[in-house]
Amino acid sequence: MAASFGGVAQVEEIADGAGGAGTATPGVTCLRLGSTVGRTEGGSLVHVAIGTRRAVDLAVLLHDPRAATRSSRAPGLSDPHPVLRMPPATGAGRAGTGTYNCRTVSETQQAVTMKDMFYITTPVYYPNDVPHIGHAYTTVACDVVARHQRLVRGPDHVLFLTGTDEHGKKVPQAAREQGLDAQNFVDRMEPRWREVWDRLDISYDDYIRTTQPRHEAAVTKLLTAVYENGRDDIYLGVYEGWYCVSCEAYYTEDELVDGNCPVHGQPVERMSEENYFFRLSAYQDRLLEHYTRHPEAIEPEVRRNEVLSLIRGGLRDFSISRTSFAWGVPLPWDPKHVTYVWFDALTNYITAAGYADDPDRFARTWPADVHMIGKDIVRFHAIYWPAMLMAGGVEPPLEVFAHGFLLVGGEKMSKSRLTGIHPFQLIDHFGVDAYRYYFFREIPFGQDGSFSWESMLARYNSELANGIGNLASRVLAMTGSYFDGAVPEPSSPSGGRLARAAEGLGERFGEHLEALELTDALQALDDFVREANRYLVEVAPWKLARAPARRQELADTLYESLEGLRLWAVLASPVMPGAAARLWEQLGVAEPLADQRLPAAARWGLMQPGTKTNRGEPLFPRLDT
Ligand code: MSP
Repeated sequence: MAASFGGVAQVEEIADGAGGAGTATPGVTCLRLGSTVGRTEGGSLVHVAIGTRRAVDLAVLLHDPRAATRSSRAPGLSDPHPVLRMPPATGAGRAGTGTYNCRTVSETQQAVTMKDMFYITTPVYYPNDVPHIGHAYTTVACDVVARHQRLVRGPDHVLFLTGTDEHGKKVPQAAREQGLDAQNFVDRMEPRWREVWDRLDISYDDYIRTTQPRHEAAVTKLLTAVYENGRDDIYLGVYEGWYCVSCEAYYTEDELVDGNCPVHGQPVERMSEENYFFRLSAYQDRLLEHYTRHPEAIEPEVRRNEVLSLIRGGLRDFSISRTSFAWGVPLPWDPKHVTYVWFDALTNYITAAGYADDPDRFARTWPADVHMIGKDIVRFHAIYWPAMLMAGGVEPPLEVFAHGFLLVGGEKMSKSRLTGIHPFQLIDHFGVDAYRYYFFREIPFGQDGSFSWESMLARYNSELANGIGNLASRVLAMTGSYFDGAVPEPSSPSGGRLARAAEGLGERFGEHLEALELTDALQALDDFVREANRYLVEVAPWKLARAPARRQELADTLYESLEGLRLWAVLASPVMPGAAARLWEQLGVAEPLADQRLPAAARWGLMQPGTKTNRGEPLFPRLDT
C-alpha cells in the first residue's frame, strides 16, 4: 500500500566517493521525503526527493542498514550496503550527486514500490481549433526535457504525457456549428494535434484524451475521495452568471464583449443554477505551508510570487459542476451534474499515471516532476490543483513551471485574434530541427518574447548553417581528403585546446536542462561551436596538410574536431534529434545514438581512431529568404 510520508531526513555522513555538484553536507537536513515508503525485513525504504531545487532523484534512507540489500533493486542505485550510491550527477544545487549514508529521523510506513519515473506533462490542449506555435512552444519544451532525461536515466524511467482537453465548454457549440455531436467533433479534431506533434518529433510516451474511459474513472475516483474526506470540501451552492442561450453556456463578466456573448454577439441573461463547489478557501494555510517548505514547486520566481500573493489575498471556493449541459463526467453522487472544466482537466495528470487503475504504476510515477504550462493557467495548476489533491489524499506535483507567452505585435498569439501561426508554416521553410532550436535560443525561457521571421532566419544562418553546419562539413571534408575518411589517431587521448573548451560542458548543459534553463543550455552549446570554429580557423589544418612534417598536428586537430562533433551530437540530440542523428551517422560511430547515456557519453576521447566517417548532406543548408 502506498503511503504518504511528510517529513525531513538528515544526511548523516558523506562517505568516500562523495562529490559532484551536490549541496548536501553532513548533519544538514536537506532531504524531502516523498510519498512512497517500503518496509523490508531489514528496515524501510523511503523514496525521497532531494535537494533545494527541483526534486527528482531517488535515494534510499535507512534506519536499519540491512534494508539496503533490498534497496539495490531501485534503478540507479548500487553498492547498497551500508552506503548508498545516488543516481548520476545531474544538477547543481541538488544533493543527489554523491554517496551518502542516510538515516530517517522519523518512523516510516509501508509501501510496495518506489517512484522511479521522471514524469513530465504538457497542458491538455483544447481541440476546438488547430495548434499554433504557442501551443507547440510548451510541447517542444517538454520534449527537450523528456529526451534529456532519457539520456540520463534511460527510456524506461521517463513518462512524457500530452493530450487533449475534450470536455471544454466551447466544444458542444463548435460541434453544433458543424452539424456534429460533441464526440464526433473531438474525434475529428484530435488528429490535427497529433499530426503536428508527429511532424515536430515529439516523443510523448502517452497521449490522453479526457473523453477516454480511463479518465472518467480517475475523475470519479478523485471526486469521490474529496467528497468523502469528512471535511465537507464539496458542497452544494448556487452559481450565478451570464448565460447565452445559443451557446448554452455561462460567461463571466470579463468574457463578455460589450456586454454580449463573445461567440454570438447577442444579449446574455443573468441566470443561476445549483452547482457543487470545492472549498478552496479551506486550503489557504496548507498551500502557504506547502510553498514555504517547497519553494521550488513553482518556477520561475516571478510566478511563485504571483501565486503566493494570490493565496495570501484569500481564496474563493470554485464551482466544480453544472446542470446546464451534459458534456462531461457525471458527479458520482449526483449524476444530474457534470464536472466543470478544471476538476476534469487537471485530473488528466493522475489518470495517465495510473491513479484509478494501476497502483504500482502510480507509485512509480506520481508525484509529477514537472507540469509545464503557459503562465495563463498558473493559478489553476499552482492553487486549485494542489488543493484538490490534498483534499483527495494525493500528493501535489513536485513542480509547476509556467513559461512566458509568444507574442505577436506585443500581444499573446491567439487564434481568435487571427495571430495564430501554424507550426507547419515555419517547419516547411526552416525544417524541424531549426524550429525546435530557435524559440528557446531566442527567448529567455520563462519570459515573454516575440517571434519574427527575420530573427529566425538570422539565427538559422549564423548559428545553424554557418555554426554547427559549417563546422561539421569542414571537418568531415578534411577527414575525407587527408585521412581517407578515417578518424585519425591523436598523439594524446586527453586532447588539447578543444578538449579544454569542452571540459565541464556536459555537466553545465545537463545542469541547465535539469533546472529548465533551456536558453542557457543552448547558449552553452553554441559557445562551444563558436570556439570549435575559431579553433579551426586559427590552427588552419588546410595549411598543416601542406607540411608533411606536421602530419601528427593535423591528426590531432581533426581528432579533436571530430570528437567535438560527437559531443555536440549527444548533447544536442534532445533539442535537434534529426540533425544529431544525421551527424552521428556521418561520424560513423558504431554504437547507436539512442544508446548513449549521460554523463558517460560526454567524456572526452570516446571517438575511436579508424572509424570510417562520411561527409553526407549539409546539416543546415544556408537559406536566403
Ligand atoms: N485546456 C486548458 C489547459 C488544461 S491543463 C489541465 C487550456 N488549453 S489551451 O489549448 O488553451 O492551451 C493552453 C496552453 O497552450 C497554455 O497554457 C500554454 O502552455 C500554451 N499556449 C497557448 N498560447 C500560447 C502563447 N501565445 N505562447 C506560449 N504558450 C501558449 O488552456
